[in-house]
Amino acid sequence: MVKVLGIESSCDDTAASVVEDGRVLSDVIAGQATVHSPYGGVVPELAGRNHLLNIMPVVDKALEDAGVDLDDIQGIAVTRGPGLVGSLVVGLQFAKTLAAARNLPFVGVNHLRGHLLAARIEGDDLPLPEFPYMALLASGGHTGIYLVENEMEITCLGQTRDDAAGEAFDKVARLLGLGYPGGPLIDLMAESQGSKEQFPQSLRQRKSFEFSFSGIKTSVAQRVAQIPGGPDPDQVLAIVRGFQQAVVEILVRKITLAARSKQISTVVLSGGVAANKGLRKHAREVCERNDLELFAPPPERCTDNGSMIAYAGYLALRAGQRDSLDLAPLAGWPL
Ligand code: KG4
Ligand code: ZN
Repeated sequence: MVKVLGIESSCDDTAASVVEDGRVLSDVIAGQATVHSPYGGVVPELAGRNHLLNIMPVVDKALEDAGVDLDDIQGIAVTRGPGLVGSLVVGLQFAKTLAAARNLPFVGVNHLRGHLLAARIEGDDLPLPEFPYMALLASGGHTGIYLVENEMEITCLGQTRDDAAGEAFDKVARLLGLGYPGGPLIDLMAESQGSKEQFPQSLRQRKSFEFSFSGIKTSVAQRVAQIPGGPDPDQVLAIVRGFQQAVVEILVRKITLAARSKQISTVVLSGGVAANKGLRKHAREVCERNDLELFAPPPERCTDNGSMIAYAGYLALRAGQRDSLDLAPLAGWPL
């Protein structure tokens, strides 16, 4: 039985988890939404400072919830990148210090790999996807399509040319004065029934697996500017419903297109945007029509969390990977 402690601090969430042979024993997260919401987005300087405040209690709680102490831990995993360097260094330095003090094996984990493998974490009584699968990764920093052949072989087939899908949710929410983070707020508002504004779906006719979300953000901004005195609550709702529909449709279109064209019958959703109820519903319908099997982790395992890093770290350690204690953070780290 191997217990691994995983630490995640790539953006604004401080998270830690203990997994035992890949099964989650604890999963603790301290968010910073209240710190960043007045600014409508993550302020890197504040994110780093708050990781520093949160990391000790979060790791303590992860050990406590798992019913273990440091003597029981056999490996340390931490997000190395991609992410904000001032945030990454806090988790990285904490993890290195633990590994050095306890003489434990240590690995730096790619955050994207963590998201892409999260659907395979056991323990939620959900069926798990078998390899190979086609995965959509849609988060605040990344949006792309990945062929996941096994735990180690992951190939990017296409990604966004500009904004990430989650970034578009956050920017549109800011434009409409809704708050931060925008994704969950827009998701909730888009559940309401009523009229929808039409927005363009960039690169829709292209057979490539690339995305572009800066155009739709500009369209929303133009629409808002056209309304004298700004949109009233009904108009805001119509914009929100239309925006979410356009983003969801293009994401589902491209991931199902990728699966069909590569003859992969299993589709996986991952990243914060995969928590979106409209996306999950539309993906279910389209996959069913196309004889594709769909898997999506529980919403709290789509958004940033510690267990995805502990799990990916456990797999890396099991495969023999070891990193040295001079490992540097990577702001960008493509798979
Ligand atoms: O994966 P994640 O937690 O962090 C990154 O790696 O970026 O993704 C965060 C992004 C944010 O942009 C947030 O607005 C979006 O995911 N998000 C959502 C939902 N929940 C989070 N977007 C749409 N609908 C949601 N329910
Ligand atoms: Zn993430």
